Amino acid sequence: MGAKILLEHIDKPGIRGYDVYRQNGGYRAVEKAVKTMTPDEIVNEVKTSVLRGRGGAGFPTGLKWSFIDKSNPTRYLVCNADESEPGTFKDRYIIQYIPHLLVEGMIVSSFALGANTAYIYMRGEFRWLFPILQKAIDEAYANGFLGKNILGTGFNLDLYVQSGGGAYICGEETALLESLEGKRGNPRIKPPFPAIKGLYGCPTVVNNVESIAVTPWIVNNGGAEYAKLGTEKSPGTKLISACGNINKPGVYEIELGLPVEEFLYSDEYCGGIAGGKQLKACVPGGSSVPILPGELLLKTAAGTPRNMSYESLSDGGFATGSMLGSGGFIVFDENACIVRNLWNFSSFYHHESCGQCSPCREGTGWMEKVLHRIEHGHGNQGDIDLLVDIAKKIEGNTICPLGDAAAWPVASAIRHFRDEFELHVKHPELVRHHYMNDYKAPVLQGA
Ligand SMILES: Cc1cc2nc3c(=O)[nH]c(=O)nc-3n(C[C@H](O)[C@H](O)[C@H](O)COP(=O)(O)O)c2cc1C
Ligand code: SF4
Repeated sequence: MGAKILLEHIDKPGIRGYDVYRQNGGYRAVEKAVKTMTPDEIVNEVKTSVLRGRGGAGFPTGLKWSFIDKSNPTRYLVCNADESEPGTFKDRYIIQYIPHLLVEGMIVSSFALGANTAYIYMRGEFRWLFPILQKAIDEAYANGFLGKNILGTGFNLDLYVQSGGGAYICGEETALLESLEGKRGNPRIKPPFPAIKGLYGCPTVVNNVESIAVTPWIVNNGGAEYAKLGTEKSPGTKLISACGNINKPGVYEIELGLPVEEFLYSDEYCGGIAGGKQLKACVPGGSSVPILPGELLLKTAAGTPRNMSYESLSDGGFATGSMLGSGGFIVFDENACIVRNLWNFSSFYHHESCGQCSPCREGTGWMEKVLHRIEHGHGNQGDIDLLVDIAKKIEGNTICPLGDAAAWPVASAIRHFRDEFELHVKHPELVRHHYMNDYKAPVLQGA
């Protein structure tokens, strides 16, 4: 059983409410931070922890905080609770079951950054979670942890929850800021980065829910204690949302460095492939990261067993590796059709492209169209190379990483499963047949 930080108290009855949260050590970090520490000391603890942002890119949180332009007295902290990446549903878990952890993290982090106004930007489809989070915020106000002169220290903080309209692109930090300002959520060209020019033109830090929710633990226990957990390059614990063809889908807190095989097959976590089937492939970090065939998920190309960490899952680069990303662990069994699943992902990216740059706007549409015809038995041999070509033209040529996110799954799926695409093209009758008969993946042998 690995260390538990975020989910330590998750099973305590009533932990969603203020009283039980407080009885279990809640808001101690706020007391310690505002009464006994300076903002810089907190930033240094977070730097020492080597916490890497949990929104997907894994950028060091303390370093990001240190970039904030302190010459401007108006600074903002914005929590990214947009969580729209297919396969990722871990932030929602915190908000739903232990919302005070996020509220406490927002207070501690705002104090560290010198922010007196903070926002939690929540995915539009999470509207049902609003009353839960708002209640936690109201309780924090009622108990003197939010508002004016917090705990008599002179520190003021107002915390607001803002709903998105349901667009995936509003999870991209600059699109999120545009949306928060009341505009259409189009990503901005960077630089300037939000730490210099963010919300309403003021210095702003945007962090993921999980990154913020872990800061109370770091304040209470120290960054060095946090850094002792996990691996050297991936310290701490991470929430993984596991789904697909496994026995036990759900949200798990793992200590980083846990062997992938243990995560996938042990009863403590995923419990193995459902129905006793074989593992075929996995998208280990949310729909935006490259897909890995089963053997490359468990071991690198050099034969080293992989573990759940930023460095191990990306070992081999995109040729034979992937990314930990947001921790959305999507498992495909032997019957899953890669083409069909990829078509599903591509439809999503096409639908969610904001349309500002042509390679993404046009390319995602073409990829969806070509994948649709391959999957439905109307593809031709040139279509597979056409897909590779479109993906190449999108990658690195767009304003925001949504373009890359759409291209990487396509490029990696063809790299690893080209024979399955060819089978679809060469045997349309088989594809049409399986499509019409309540979907089953084609048999590859002898194709
Ligand atoms: C299309 C797109 C969607 C994103 N969606 C999210 C999201 O839902 N939640 C999130 O925390 N980060 C998301 N990100 C990453 C954010 O831009 C940003 O890097 C992150 O919120 C920073 O937080 P962190 O440093 O704590 O990881 C997304 C990025 C892109 C390009
Ligand atoms: S890459 Fe796509 S989503 Fe991002 S700015 Fe360009 S068109 Fe919009």
